[in-house]
Amino acid sequence: MEYLRHPNIEHQKQKVDELIEKLGLIDIRLQQKTADKEQLNPQERMISIKNVWDVVKTKLNNPETALDVGSGFAYGTVFLDMNDIQAIGVENVYSKNEQALELFHEVGIILNKVNKIDFSKSPAILWSNFIKLRSQEVTDLITMFYVSGELAINPTTFHICKRLLKKEGKIILSTEADKAAVEDIINKGGFVLPDGFSYEIIDVPNNFEKTVIILSKT
Ligand SMILES: C[S@@+](CC[C@H](N)C(=O)[O-])C[C@H]1O[C@@H](n2cnc3c(N)ncnc32)[C@H](O)[C@@H]1O
Repeated sequence: MEYLRHPNIEHQKQKVDELIEKLGLIDIRLQQKTADKEQLNPQERMISIKNVWDVVKTKLNNPETALDVGSGFAYGTVFLDMNDIQAIGVENVYSKNEQALELFHEVGIILNKVNKIDFSKSPAILWSNFIKLRSQEVTDLITMFYVSGELAINPTTFHICKRLLKKEGKIILSTEADKAAVEDIINKGGFVLPDGFSYEIIDVPNNFEKTVIILSKT
């Protein structure tokens, strides 16, 4: 059985590599109100997400669905879909969602717009404040690539995640902070988890997102 999987994985890798190449060639001026420039470089973001994924993918119980929270220009959402995980990006800045549609259209990928969680439309984006999502036990995985500091330190975030995740679901948070800085934040109580989660912190060497935290719903 195992060897049957290999062609598929190779095909996925090839698709992602082709996408990364195309993202480096397109001429598009993305805009946002915040100061960080990293999100405005699609090729760099996609490479960084791929490196994060390579470190975590075997630790996730083969998820079939994912909510990509704070999806920004939908890099993670499209990446997950390319890896055969049905993905919905949740982003509360309307103009980012609109630019994501245009950006991926340029490289031949149709992103759908949804107004509720509907994984059959993957890859899709939902314009919503994540904190306001009301569904229960709908997804295997929640990703927050290059997580917004505001979301990460808000205890409500993880209560909502707990409700949205299926049994034994996982959360991936990736951040540009290094492992020592993440541990320091946790030790100082800056990162509050609800009961029923365990966590693991992993280094991502030589990458923009230097650290990943995997949270597991027990
Ligand atoms: C640092 S950016 C990362 C974007 C993207 N995930 C990436 O990998 O490039 C964080 C994103 O989270 C979004 N965000 C912050 N709070 C949010 C909320 N409550 N609901 C939905 N999106 C939120 C921000 O608008 C921003 O686009």
